Amino acid sequence: MSAIFQDKHILITAGPTREAIDPVRYIGNRSTGKMGFAIATALLSLGAEVTLVSGPVESHLINNIKALEGKLHLMSVESAQEMYDSVAAHFAAANIAIFAAAVADYSPKEVAAQKIKKQDGPLIIELVKTKDILKEMGLRKREDQCVVGFALETDNEVPNAQKKLKEKNADIIILNSLRDAGAGFATDTNQITILDKYNNISKFELKQKEQVASDILDYISRYLHA
Ligand code: CTP
Repeated sequence: MSAIFQDKHILITAGPTREAIDPVRYIGNRSTGKMGFAIATALLSLGAEVTLVSGPVESHLINNIKALEGKLHLMSVESAQEMYDSVAAHFAAANIAIFAAAVADYSPKEVAAQKIKKQDGPLIIELVKTKDILKEMGLRKREDQCVVGFALETDNEVPNAQKKLKEKNADIIILNSLRDAGAGFATDTNQITILDKYNNISKFELKQKEQVASDILDYISRYLHA
């Protein structure tokens, strides 16, 4: 891999978000953060300065990455709004931003101050849309910045990913299909297809997430050199 990442500032989002319902409950998802942390780990070993904005993940991931040598700024956040605020504060300083987090698309409109008591009949919680962090940063992207997003799809994968690439003004989209065994959340492996804004589409084999991270960085480095 080229030395292109040496001393570059890379912003990465990773893990799930948690959207509070009341003081003890939240809406979450099955993301573990492994993919984003694997990319951050690879970048640190290549001499990049990494700002990692992470949702709640297992403590061993945090401990392992903190134990590495390198320039790491770890921002631990919980909700989609907190992740947005942290990313918005760091985006301008980034050369490359990689959005690997599984951000909640909806959040409860109101957070109950007290634990919600069980009652007769159904409980209805109104959800409102969260900010799309990738899209907002894609829109503010400067000419000298590169934005990489992920797309998790279950059907019509490539057209959906191409739509996200355009709508979110990304340079590159890493597509995961939940139809591929071993891809997606809570696995140690992933199977990706990379699309870029020049309409290139490259399909990769099923690999360990560390190897996938290296393929992604390899692709970004070739994209930036092209
Ligand atoms: N993303 C984000 N902020 C959000 C939602 C998504 O930054 N509020 C980013 C993710 O980190 C990922 C990309 O957008 O890089 C695509 O996420 P995905 O869940 O596949 O798509 P959505 O845009 O949420 O669309 P949908 O759920 O309808 O497929």
